[in-house]
Amino acid sequence: MSFIQLQNVSKRYAEVTALDRVSVEVQTGEMLGIIGHSGAGKSTLLRMINGLEQPTEGDVLIKGKNITDLNKLELRQLRSNIGMIFQHFNLLSSRTVFQNVAFPMQIVGKKKSEIKARVEELLERVGLSDKKNAYPSQLSGGQKQRVGIARALANHPEIVLCDEATSALDPATTDSILQLIQEINRETGITFVFITHEMSVVEKVCSQVAVLEAGRIVETGKVEDVFSNPRHDVTKSFLGLTPKKGGNRNVS
Ligand SMILES: Nc1ncnc2c1ncn2[C@@H]1O[C@H](COP(=O)(O)OP(=O)(O)O)[C@@H](O)[C@H]1O
Ligand SMILES: [Mg+2]
Repeated sequence: MSFIQLQNVSKRYAEVTALDRVSVEVQTGEMLGIIGHSGAGKSTLLRMINGLEQPTEGDVLIKGKNITDLNKLELRQLRSNIGMIFQHFNLLSSRTVFQNVAFPMQIVGKKKSEIKARVEELLERVGLSDKKNAYPSQLSGGQKQRVGIARALANHPEIVLCDEATSALDPATTDSILQLIQEINRETGITFVFITHEMSVVEKVCSQVAVLEAGRIVETGKVEDVFSNPRHDVTKSFLGLTPKKGGNRNVS
């Protein structure tokens, strides 16, 4: 049984088809990369997995359970089992680093002593123990994303969804954040879905990849296979193998 399974999922907003019969599976502990251009439907796909939105058609199964069948309490439990990491970090600017990481635990009513121990453990893990009383405005982009990662892990999720987690970071910071995420994946066995528009990000951390174009998955497979033998033009363009309009990246 797959940990996350989308079966023929479509999502329409009025006349826009954001997702068109998408089927994708993620196994426990795996890192799936979803790559696509802006507007391809990547964020919509994540909102299907965390139950923020329901599919117009098709089924989303988490651990074999259809999210459409969940009651309010079960949906809340599902959400607290899923951590989110965002491109622009989405930290609360009026709260300290400690308070930002504590926030998801406060929402589910954890005890103060438990929160303190967990926040300190997480800040240690992401290398920010000395910044616990700092405010987001006092941090670099990479440090902000480390706070975002710690916050995503706060409630011991089994799934973490990353929406362009490194897209606002410079290349060196991107590498250090990707390394941290990969280490956490290996240490914890958390299942990751990693959304990006950069192939290099997929190459560095993901085991499987799905290429999304205009709401459809046009190619999917093991990262090494898709990289060595891309079949779809969109995949090739992400790999720099076909000329982009007005571009000069043709390496053939
Ligand atoms: N809440 C919404 N209402 C209407 N259209 C939406 C909504 N969310 C997304 N869309 C549309 O769905 C398509 C896919 O959007 P999105 O999933 O955000 O793409 P991506 O994250 O790949 O850039 C776009 O055409 C977008 O305008
Ligand atoms: Mg998006």
